Amino acid sequence: MWYTLCVLPLLFGLAASSPKAPSPRWRFDLKNTTSGIVALESIVVSPTLVMFLDRTGAAPLQINNHSAWGALWDLRTSTVKPIEVLTDSFCASGALLSNGSMASVGGDPSLFPGNPAGLPTGNQAVRIFEPCASPSGRGCPLFEDPDNLHLLEPRWYPSSIRIYDGSLLIVGGTHVNVAFWNTDPANTFEFFPAKEATPRPSKFLERTMPSNLFPRIFALPDGRVFMVANNQSIIYDIVKKTETILPDIPNNVRVTNPIDGSAILLPLSPPLYEPEVLVCGGTATNTPDDPKKLSSQTPATSQCSRIKLTKEGIARGWVVEHMSEGRTMLELVHLPNGQVLIINGAKTGFAALASVGDPVDDGNADHAALTPELYTPWLPKGKRFSNKGLPTSDIPRVYHSSVTLTPQGNFLIGGSNPNFNFTPAASGRKFPSELRIQTLDPPFMSMDRPRILSMPKKLRFGARVTVPITIPRSLLGSSDIKVSLVDLGFSTHAFHSGARLVFMEATISRDKKFLTFRTPPNGKVYPPGPATIFLTIDDVSSEGAWVMMGSGASPPVSE
Ligand SMILES: *[C@@H]1O[C@H](CO)[C@@H](O)[C@H](O)[C@H]1NC(C)=O
Ligand SMILES: *[C@@H]1O[C@H](CO)[C@@H](O)[C@H](O)[C@H]1NC(C)=O
Ligand SMILES: *[C@@H]1O[C@H](CO)[C@@H](O)[C@H](O)[C@H]1NC(C)=O
Ligand SMILES: *[C@@H]1O[C@H](CO)[C@@H](O)[C@H](O)[C@H]1NC(C)=O
Repeated sequence: MWYTLCVLPLLFGLAASSPKAPSPRWRFDLKNTTSGIVALESIVVSPTLVMFLDRTGAAPLQINNHSAWGALWDLRTSTVKPIEVLTDSFCASGALLSNGSMASVGGDPSLFPGNPAGLPTGNQAVRIFEPCASPSGRGCPLFEDPDNLHLLEPRWYPSSIRIYDGSLLIVGGTHVNVAFWNTDPANTFEFFPAKEATPRPSKFLERTMPSNLFPRIFALPDGRVFMVANNQSIIYDIVKKTETILPDIPNNVRVTNPIDGSAILLPLSPPLYEPEVLVCGGTATNTPDDPKKLSSQTPATSQCSRIKLTKEGIARGWVVEHMSEGRTMLELVHLPNGQVLIINGAKTGFAALASVGDPVDDGNADHAALTPELYTPWLPKGKRFSNKGLPTSDIPRVYHSSVTLTPQGNFLIGGSNPNFNFTPAASGRKFPSELRIQTLDPPFMSMDRPRILSMPKKLRFGARVTVPITIPRSLLGSSDIKVSLVDLGFSTHAFHSGARLVFMEATISRDKKFLTFRTPPNGKVYPPGPATIFLTIDDVSSEGAWVMMGSGASPPVSE
């Protein structure tokens, strides 16, 4: 009966296509084609497509007689094609909804030179990309109707995550362009689709001024939401509208824009799904300092702070550990096996443009961090960070860069652009507008991998599911089996909004031909919506299977 299930396009044979397979190691792979626009925001919208969003401007990729600022990257062919965007998506947020549609929210209020005339401003925008059946994205537009479909409040630099009912919780931002600190804050929450007529005021966002842009937020397995901004953190109860104040991030370290550290919800495991959050990088500095007194050479912190969000964990508070080097504007991204990739960013300086005393051209940061590292959450403290075996890139990925885990199991990396305008490499600037796309490939990309041969398109919560698999001979004897359900998230500004990894209880049949796993119990553990399922044996991960977790229904409009 398993064979009657829909077979998804699981296998692109990315690694298999190269004539002589390189030896299994981590490596950067530079793609021949460019992104055409700066991949300032990236989100996987289907098993084969990543949407890039940029700002309006003078990018080389053209559409309808103007520079594009939206594009679809085809993971099979490493080619890009422009997509028409109506409003300026500069510094927007986004996520996938419970019905599989992508919603990009907020953006830039101002109009940059070279825009098509009459462009509506983007800071109240809602941009919808409906699930696209075409693997190449043919005939799949980005839908906008600014008059009838928009946010309640203008937001530049907001964050958004899918919550337990499949809708988005949208948090914070600024109303208009600000130069550095958040001086015109949207210190509120709202939902998409809207549940209420007015946004909810947030005391937390008020307390975390003026460094609270792109708040780092996570849906917790009890339905509440963890938030960290500046050096403070809370748990917000959406139903009761209450906040529980947690301890500050230690040692004066601040972690949200313009002091960009990053944060990640560590993998959730059955049966308890106890949430733990890791917050890394940023800078130990005071707010508000006159940005002119800050320097592009100020060292970023190597501090990571980890907290377990149980009663005991909160009582213990943040536990401090250190990355191999200081990093700001970094991203933390799940590997299918539950490790965390630390990548991109700079070793000194700040986010934002031309506000510090000694900017590097337009940028506030310097000394690109070119060597990624791995964090292994389950190892003892002191042994968790390592950049051993990780390659060094020669492409800076500083401000306005992005990275995402792909359904194939590697990482797609694009951007950066710490410049006011599109600034080509020929400008001679140290950090031009970067159009080169590369992947970071884990060793398993050039190994024989387990394969999930088919997967139902839709999975219910709390279901036992059996699917056919193959396991390479080299892994047949292994008992280290992990099955993860992953939200690949939305990458921009040093935060992977919505990213989530939930391990599922799993067994492999005695004949090694079938995998049985149990899906999470409810939408609090994994908010209903698209997910990618990976089978990992001995740290060798399969390509992911794209599924709809839950009914696939549209999110509700009232609580
Ligand atoms: C990409 O570039 C590499 C190295 O220059 C070359 O070997 C390969 O043929 C190119 N691939 C395509 C599809 O153009
Ligand atoms: C695009 O530009 C070309 C050359 O300027 C012009 O001939 C053409 O009519 C324009 N097309 C549209 C759709 O505006
Ligand atoms: C957090 O920031 C506030 C305001 O700058 C400061 O007073 C406080 O000491 C900081 N907390 C820690 C633990 O450094
Ligand atoms: C999903 O829900 C959103 C929000 O209500 C809506 O705009 C979109 O059209 C829906 N997509 C589908 C495929 O139903």
